[in-house]
Amino acid sequence: MELASKVRAVRLGILLSGRGSNFKAIARFIAEGRLPGVEIAVVISNVAEAAGLLAARDSGLPTAVFVSKGRTRAEHDADLIQCLQTHRVDLVCLAGYMRLLSPDFVAAFPNRILNIHPSLLPAFSGLEAQQQAFEHGVKIAGCTVHFVDDQLDHGVIVLQRAIPVLESDDAHSLAERILAEEHIAYSEAIARVAGGDYEIHGRRYVKRVG
Ligand code: GRF
Repeated sequence: MELASKVRAVRLGILLSGRGSNFKAIARFIAEGRLPGVEIAVVISNVAEAAGLLAARDSGLPTAVFVSKGRTRAEHDADLIQCLQTHRVDLVCLAGYMRLLSPDFVAAFPNRILNIHPSLLPAFSGLEAQQQAFEHGVKIAGCTVHFVDDQLDHGVIVLQRAIPVLESDDAHSLAERILAEEHIAYSEAIARVAGGDYEIHGRRYVKRVG
Protein backbone atom coordinates (compact mmCIF):
# COMPACT_ATOMS: atom_id res chain seq x y z
CA MET A 1 0.00 0.00 0.00
CA GLU A 2 1.35 3.42 -0.95
CA LEU A 3 1.24 6.06 1.74
CA ALA A 4 1.85 8.93 -0.60
CA SER A 5 -1.31 10.25 -2.17
CA LYS A 6 -2.01 13.34 -4.17
CA VAL A 7 -5.53 13.63 -2.81
CA ARG A 8 -5.03 13.58 0.93
CA ALA A 9 -2.37 14.03 3.58
CA VAL A 10 -0.56 11.17 5.25
CA ARG A 11 -2.13 10.97 8.69
CA LEU A 12 0.08 10.28 11.71
CA GLY A 13 -0.97 8.62 14.93
CA ILE A 14 1.54 9.49 17.63
CA LEU A 15 1.92 7.27 20.71
CA LEU A 16 3.78 8.62 23.72
CA SER A 17 4.17 8.04 27.45
CA GLY A 18 6.22 10.98 28.69
CA ARG A 19 7.53 14.48 28.01
CA GLY A 20 6.84 14.28 24.28
CA SER A 21 9.74 16.30 22.92
CA ASN A 22 9.82 14.17 19.77
CA PHE A 23 6.11 14.72 19.25
CA LYS A 24 6.61 18.47 19.67
CA ALA A 25 9.48 18.47 17.17
CA ILE A 26 7.28 16.68 14.60
CA ALA A 27 4.43 19.13 15.26
CA ARG A 28 6.87 22.03 14.82
CA PHE A 29 8.13 20.65 11.48
CA ILE A 30 4.52 20.39 10.29
CA ALA A 31 3.63 23.89 11.53
CA GLU A 32 6.66 25.29 9.74
CA GLY A 33 5.67 23.64 6.47
CA ARG A 34 8.69 21.33 6.53
CA LEU A 35 6.63 18.13 6.31
CA PRO A 36 4.29 18.86 3.40
CA GLY A 37 1.45 16.39 2.92
CA VAL A 38 1.68 15.12 6.50
CA GLU A 39 -0.69 15.84 9.38
CA ILE A 40 -1.16 14.60 12.93
CA ALA A 41 -4.48 12.77 13.18
CA VAL A 42 -4.33 11.83 16.87
CA VAL A 43 -1.95 11.71 19.84
CA ILE A 44 -2.47 8.74 22.15
CA SER A 45 -0.96 7.96 25.52
CA ASN A 46 -1.09 5.18 28.07
CA VAL A 47 -0.26 7.76 30.76
CA ALA A 48 -3.06 10.25 31.48
CA GLU A 49 -0.73 12.93 32.86
CA ALA A 50 2.02 12.60 30.22
CA ALA A 51 3.39 16.05 29.45
CA GLY A 52 3.37 15.30 25.74
CA LEU A 53 -0.32 14.44 25.85
CA LEU A 54 -1.17 17.67 27.65
CA ALA A 55 0.85 19.64 25.10
CA ALA A 56 -1.04 17.96 22.27
CA ARG A 57 -4.35 18.78 23.92
CA ASP A 58 -3.27 22.40 24.44
CA SER A 59 -2.41 22.72 20.78
CA GLY A 60 -5.90 21.53 19.82
CA LEU A 61 -4.98 18.14 18.42
CA PRO A 62 -7.28 15.15 18.94
CA THR A 63 -5.99 13.07 21.86
CA ALA A 64 -6.89 9.81 23.55
CA VAL A 65 -5.78 7.98 26.69
CA PHE A 66 -5.79 4.23 27.14
CA VAL A 67 -4.56 3.25 30.56
CA SER A 68 -3.37 -0.32 30.56
CA LYS A 69 -3.89 -1.20 34.22
CA GLY A 70 -6.14 -4.19 34.66
CA ARG A 71 -6.31 -5.00 30.96
CA THR A 72 -4.44 -7.63 29.00
CA ARG A 73 -2.02 -6.44 26.34
CA ALA A 74 -4.35 -7.83 23.66
CA GLU A 75 -7.39 -5.94 25.04
CA HIS A 76 -5.43 -2.74 25.43
CA ASP A 77 -3.94 -2.91 21.95
CA ALA A 78 -7.33 -3.72 20.41
CA ASP A 79 -8.57 -0.37 21.77
CA LEU A 80 -5.53 1.37 20.33
CA ILE A 81 -5.99 -0.20 16.91
CA GLN A 82 -9.62 0.85 16.85
CA CYS A 83 -8.77 4.42 17.85
CA LEU A 84 -6.06 4.67 15.18
CA GLN A 85 -8.41 3.27 12.56
CA THR A 86 -11.20 5.63 13.61
CA HIS A 87 -8.81 8.54 13.06
CA ARG A 88 -7.80 7.07 9.67
CA VAL A 89 -4.15 6.86 10.65
CA ASP A 90 -1.73 5.85 7.90
CA LEU A 91 1.50 5.86 9.86
CA VAL A 92 1.93 5.18 13.59
CA CYS A 93 4.85 6.98 15.24
CA LEU A 94 6.08 5.73 18.59
CA ALA A 95 7.63 8.70 20.36
CA GLY A 96 8.72 7.58 23.79
CA TYR A 97 5.90 5.03 24.06
CA MET A 98 7.01 2.86 26.96
CA ARG A 99 4.95 -0.24 26.26
CA LEU A 100 5.64 -3.26 24.11
CA LEU A 101 3.18 -3.68 21.27
CA SER A 102 1.30 -6.93 20.82
CA PRO A 103 1.85 -9.01 17.66
CA ASP A 104 -1.72 -8.10 16.64
CA PHE A 105 -0.91 -4.42 16.76
CA VAL A 106 2.23 -4.86 14.66
CA ALA A 107 0.27 -6.99 12.18
CA ALA A 108 -2.47 -4.36 11.92
CA PHE A 109 0.04 -1.80 10.59
CA PRO A 110 2.65 -3.77 8.63
CA ASN A 111 5.67 -1.52 7.98
CA ARG A 112 3.46 1.35 9.05
CA ILE A 113 4.84 1.79 12.57
CA LEU A 114 7.96 3.87 13.18
CA ASN A 115 9.97 4.05 16.39
CA ILE A 116 12.84 6.28 17.43
CA HIS A 117 15.59 4.85 19.58
CA PRO A 118 18.46 6.83 21.12
CA SER A 119 21.33 4.66 19.89
CA LEU A 120 22.85 3.49 16.65
CA LEU A 121 21.04 0.16 16.43
CA PRO A 122 21.69 -2.72 16.60
CA ALA A 123 23.95 -1.48 19.41
CA PHE A 124 22.33 -0.71 22.76
CA SER A 125 18.73 -1.72 22.31
CA GLY A 126 16.42 -1.54 25.30
CA LEU A 127 16.27 0.96 28.13
CA GLU A 128 18.78 3.74 28.87
CA ALA A 129 20.54 3.31 25.56
CA GLN A 130 22.50 6.55 25.89
CA GLN A 131 23.87 5.46 29.27
CA GLN A 132 24.71 2.04 27.86
CA ALA A 133 26.61 3.67 24.98
CA PHE A 134 28.44 6.08 27.27
CA GLU A 135 29.48 3.36 29.68
CA HIS A 136 30.59 1.12 26.82
CA GLY A 137 32.97 3.89 25.77
CA VAL A 138 31.84 4.25 22.18
CA LYS A 139 33.27 7.22 20.30
CA ILE A 140 30.28 7.65 17.98
CA ALA A 141 26.71 7.66 19.28
CA GLY A 142 23.39 8.65 17.75
CA CYS A 143 19.81 7.71 17.11
CA THR A 144 17.85 5.40 14.83
CA VAL A 145 14.40 5.62 13.29
CA HIS A 146 13.18 2.17 12.31
CA PHE A 147 10.05 0.28 11.39
CA VAL A 148 8.65 -1.75 14.23
CA ASP A 149 8.52 -5.51 13.92
CA ASP A 150 7.79 -8.16 16.52
CA GLN A 151 11.20 -7.85 18.22
CA LEU A 152 12.40 -5.03 20.46
CA ASP A 153 14.25 -2.20 18.66
CA HIS A 154 14.78 -4.51 15.71
CA GLY A 155 12.87 -3.60 12.53
CA VAL A 156 14.15 -2.19 9.24
CA ILE A 157 16.22 0.97 9.72
CA VAL A 158 14.95 4.05 7.87
CA LEU A 159 17.68 6.42 8.97
CA GLN A 160 20.30 7.14 11.59
CA ARG A 161 22.05 10.29 12.75
CA ALA A 162 25.45 10.05 14.39
CA ILE A 163 27.42 12.36 16.65
CA PRO A 164 30.87 12.07 18.22
CA VAL A 165 31.10 11.38 21.94
CA LEU A 166 33.10 14.27 23.38
CA GLU A 167 35.80 14.02 26.04
CA SER A 168 33.71 16.44 28.10
CA ASP A 169 30.51 14.35 27.85
CA ASP A 170 28.79 12.56 30.66
CA ALA A 171 25.79 10.30 30.08
CA HIS A 172 23.43 13.24 30.57
CA SER A 173 25.08 15.63 28.11
CA LEU A 174 25.40 12.82 25.58
CA ALA A 175 21.68 12.06 25.91
CA GLU A 176 20.86 15.75 25.41
CA ARG A 177 22.92 15.97 22.24
CA ILE A 178 21.41 12.72 20.92
CA LEU A 179 17.93 14.13 21.64
CA ALA A 180 18.68 17.16 19.48
CA GLU A 181 19.49 14.75 16.63
CA GLU A 182 16.31 12.77 17.30
CA HIS A 183 14.27 15.90 16.78
CA ILE A 184 15.60 16.17 13.24
CA ALA A 185 15.78 12.46 12.47
CA TYR A 186 12.15 11.67 13.19
CA SER A 187 10.73 14.23 10.79
CA GLU A 188 13.27 13.30 8.12
CA ALA A 189 12.24 9.66 8.44
CA ILE A 190 8.54 10.52 8.31
CA ALA A 191 9.14 12.58 5.17
CA ARG A 192 10.92 9.66 3.54
CA VAL A 193 8.27 7.10 4.46
CA ALA A 194 5.36 9.41 3.67
CA GLY A 195 6.91 10.12 0.28
CA GLY A 196 6.56 6.42 -0.46
CA ASP A 197 9.61 6.43 -2.70
CA TYR A 198 11.31 3.36 -1.23
CA GLU A 199 11.40 -0.41 -1.17
CA ILE A 200 12.32 -2.85 1.55
CA HIS A 201 14.86 -5.49 0.53
CA GLY A 202 15.23 -7.94 3.37
CA ARG A 203 16.37 -5.77 6.26
CA ARG A 204 17.36 -2.89 3.97
CA TYR A 205 15.37 0.28 3.40
CA VAL A 206 16.30 1.31 -0.15
CA LYS A 207 15.37 4.49 -1.95
CA ARG A 208 13.60 3.67 -5.19
CA VAL A 209 15.44 4.64 -8.33
CA GLY A 210 13.67 6.06 -11.38
C1 GRF B 1 13.58 9.47 23.32
O1 GRF B 1 14.92 9.45 23.74
C2 GRF B 1 13.34 8.36 22.34
O2 GRF B 1 14.45 8.05 21.56
C3 GRF B 1 13.00 7.20 23.24
O3 GRF B 1 12.26 7.76 24.28
C4 GRF B 1 12.61 9.13 24.44
C5 GRF B 1 11.33 9.93 24.33
O4 GRF B 1 11.56 11.28 24.60
N1 GRF B 1 12.31 6.15 22.52
P1 GRF B 1 10.41 12.34 24.34
O5 GRF B 1 9.22 11.91 25.19
O6 GRF B 1 10.08 12.35 22.88
O7 GRF B 1 10.97 13.64 24.80
